[in-house]
Amino acid sequence: MKYLRWMLLAVLLFLAACESEQRAGKQICDQTLSLRKDCVFKQAQPLPMALYSQKSPGESTKLNRAYATAPPLIPHSIEGVEVNASMNGCLLCHSGEMPDVPAIPASHRQIAVIGISQAQKPLVTQVKGFKAAPSGVDQGRYVCLTCHVPQAGNLKPLVANQF
Ligand code: HEC
Ligand code: HEC
Repeated sequence: MKYLRWMLLAVLLFLAACESEQRAGKQICDQTLSLRKDCVFKQAQPLPMALYSQKSPGESTKLNRAYATAPPLIPHSIEGVEVNASMNGCLLCHSGEMPDVPAIPASHRQIAVIGISQAQKPLVTQVKGFKAAPSGVDQGRYVCLTCHVPQAGNLKPLVANQF
């Protein structure tokens, strides 16, 4: 019985030693803990307010796309432009009726025709083709800002990247 007690104590001491060693090895310095690169006890400096383009539509120039077929960034100010259930301020200009305004592309006017392939088991849903959206614009794209966003000119990326 005595022998067993000593064995147990030895095992416990060994485990405690392993853990403290592990902790020392894994120590993370607070300066590398986050993108902030500063002591966690210091109050964080807030980033400056994002400044978006103040140029009115018609005065701005298109921005380069991040990659081919990327949704283009909005180069102009969108302050006061409303998008709600009864009106879409973006479409007032971008529906294709106004000259000198880039029109929404064909993809924005179509909806997918979904079919179920009976031949395969389990059944698979497939896009069989496309047809014109009944309301003129694919409702999945009605809220333009889901994909098209303005670009803040005054902020630098926290981490270097390709975009
Ligand atoms: C008053 C008309 C007008 C309104 C409203 C408007 N735009 Fe524009 N938009 C333009 C014009 C004109 C351009 C071309 C750039 C220029 O001349 O300033 C443009 C350019 C763009 C581009 C760049 C296209 C490309 O190929 O690079 C995007 C994206 C865009 N607008 C999205 C929007 C979204 C989203 C809204 C609503 C939040 C909106 N626009 C509201 C007129 C307008
Ligand atoms: C689901 C994402 C999505 C939504 C929502 C969306 N778009 Fe787009 N849009 C795109 C993509 C992706 C492209 C680029 C397509 C390409 O070049 O093949 C694009 C392209 C455009 C272009 C450039 C056309 C050109 O010829 O250069 C305009 C303008 C535009 N969209 C306006 C709008 C407007 C206005 C709305 C809202 C009614 C809208 N988009 C909603 C994804 C979206």
